[in-house]
Amino acid sequence: MRVLVSAASRHGSTAEMAAEIASVLAEAGIDPVVAPPDDVHSLDGFDAAVIGSAIYVGHWLAPARDLVERLLPELAERPVWFFSSGPVGDPPAPIEEPEDVAELAAQARARGHQVFAGRIDRQQLGLGEKVIMAALRVPEGDYRPWTDVRTWSEGIARALTEEKGAVPGAEAGNGPQGETA
Ligand SMILES: Cc1cc2nc3c(=O)[nH]c(=O)nc-3n(C[C@H](O)[C@H](O)[C@H](O)COP(=O)(O)O)c2cc1C
Repeated sequence: MRVLVSAASRHGSTAEMAAEIASVLAEAGIDPVVAPPDDVHSLDGFDAAVIGSAIYVGHWLAPARDLVERLLPELAERPVWFFSSGPVGDPPAPIEEPEDVAELAAQARARGHQVFAGRIDRQQLGLGEKVIMAALRVPEGDYRPWTDVRTWSEGIARALTEEKGAVPGAEAGNGPQGETA
């Protein structure tokens, strides 16, 4: 089973989350392919997809939004999960979900949209970003919840393996525990 894992990231922290999601899927016997959104032009050969983005000023980054809009029909006929990374601090803020994602998730028939906390590394920020962060008093730090990311990814792996076992005519016994439905 091949699964696309594609995330838009400006400063790398969301890309690292995509890599972690892929590594959990691989541990479960799934074949993940990690690719930046701009490099994905078709879902041919993929059984499912996990699409994510960092949140900037309340929105997903354009490459992730464009990917979903470009491949909407293909996404809608496969199992798809969305994730976002953004809120920082303890407790993480802001709590609002990115504005455009609920509609995209509905159109793509995503099975879920999970928001994870993110990372702010001042040294990586551009001048404009530093100004915004200072004005909003956003705390610096790495708040990414790796255990939650792994647990969420394990749930995706479980759903995919169980469904594969449930499809009539699908190869039985190839799940991580050799499960059949
Ligand atoms: C200028 C700027 C605006 C941001 N706006 C939001 C926001 O509206 N909502 C949010 O949850 N996080 C926001 N963040 C936090 C980022 O989403 C967070 O740092 C994320 O982990 C960055 O991911 P990346 O390293 O993949 O680019 C913002 C960060 C910056 C620098």
